[in-house]
Amino acid sequence: PWEVLDVLFEKKGNVGLITIRRPKALNALNSKVFKELDAYCEIIKNDPEIKAAVLTGFGNKAFVAGADIKEMAGLTDPAQGEAFARKGQISSANLEKIGKPVVAAMNGLGLGGGCEIAMCCTARIAPKGLRMFAGQPEVNLGLIPGMGGTQRLPRLIGFEKAAEMIRTAGPISSEQALEYGLVTELVEGDVLVRAIELARELGEGKTKVKMMEMGPLSNVPDKLPDVDIGHLSRAIDKLAVQAILEGGSMTLEDGLKNEAKRFGECWKTEDNRIGLQNFVEKGARSKAPF
Ligand code: CAA
Repeated sequence: PWEVLDVLFEKKGNVGLITIRRPKALNALNSKVFKELDAYCEIIKNDPEIKAAVLTGFGNKAFVAGADIKEMAGLTDPAQGEAFARKGQISSANLEKIGKPVVAAMNGLGLGGGCEIAMCCTARIAPKGLRMFAGQPEVNLGLIPGMGGTQRLPRLIGFEKAAEMIRTAGPISSEQALEYGLVTELVEGDVLVRAIELARELGEGKTKVKMMEMGPLSNVPDKLPDVDIGHLSRAIDKLAVQAILEGGSMTLEDGLKNEAKRFGECWKTEDNRIGLQNFVEKGARSKAPF
């Protein structure tokens, strides 16, 4: 029987183009997407004709609106939560391990797992003037970021800004994302066209970009600055802070494993059950900063 793919792959000359296509879920990442992504990473890695890749989302609203909340709402205990996070972490880190440049063409919202998968890419391109563009809104759902947000965001934009984004769940605009260093370039026109062009330049060695630090960081603060978390869960905030601070003095690899463990611990809280269920029942968004 034919299987409908949720991730598409095509070659644009020497650039491999991966498109996540789940329009009804704003391209949210579920286990099926992770499996398909893994297969394309292998193809890109092993095809000598392909020199670089681009990752994008289908449609014009979202790049990726996060990991699939409906799938996570079906998980029942910390071990299942941790395993889901590890699956997403390993799949997204495969982009980092291709050994060829990968450009994220962030054609719209990059939330939660969407922001996190983009951070596994070598460069990130976004449209100018998107007021609500990127964020780590997991704490709204009784979760912490579980696909590397607590690890790669501090490495990219520093502990203070990363912690504020994660702990308040608030989204930032594309202009702020550029100012913070979360995206590398904003474009007026078609994000995908520019991303393919940049991927080609990177693949041919004509341009270079700064790589993320993979080892332990030297600037880990003892504690994070106070942040007003409003109505958000104190128990979940504590797990987020732990994941951020503990991971800073670990290698990225170990920090990710630790994050997945803390992500699983969210399932020990009542706020997790309520948060996920609220989204499934469509109540969460009225409370959320979105
Ligand atoms: N997972 C599953 N489905 C999602 C989704 C997600 N992350 N994001 C959106 N959808 C679905 C919605 O459920 C809806 O489908 P149904 O009508 O069948 O329920 C469809 O996509 C369209 O979404 P909305 O009706 O909500 O569209 P909107 O324009 O009103 O709002 C939005 C857009 C602000 C992005 C809102 O959809 C939203 O808040 N989404 C969730 C964003 C989020 O919290 N992401 C983080 C996920 S947790 C995570 O990623 C964990 C991790 O690190 C591993």
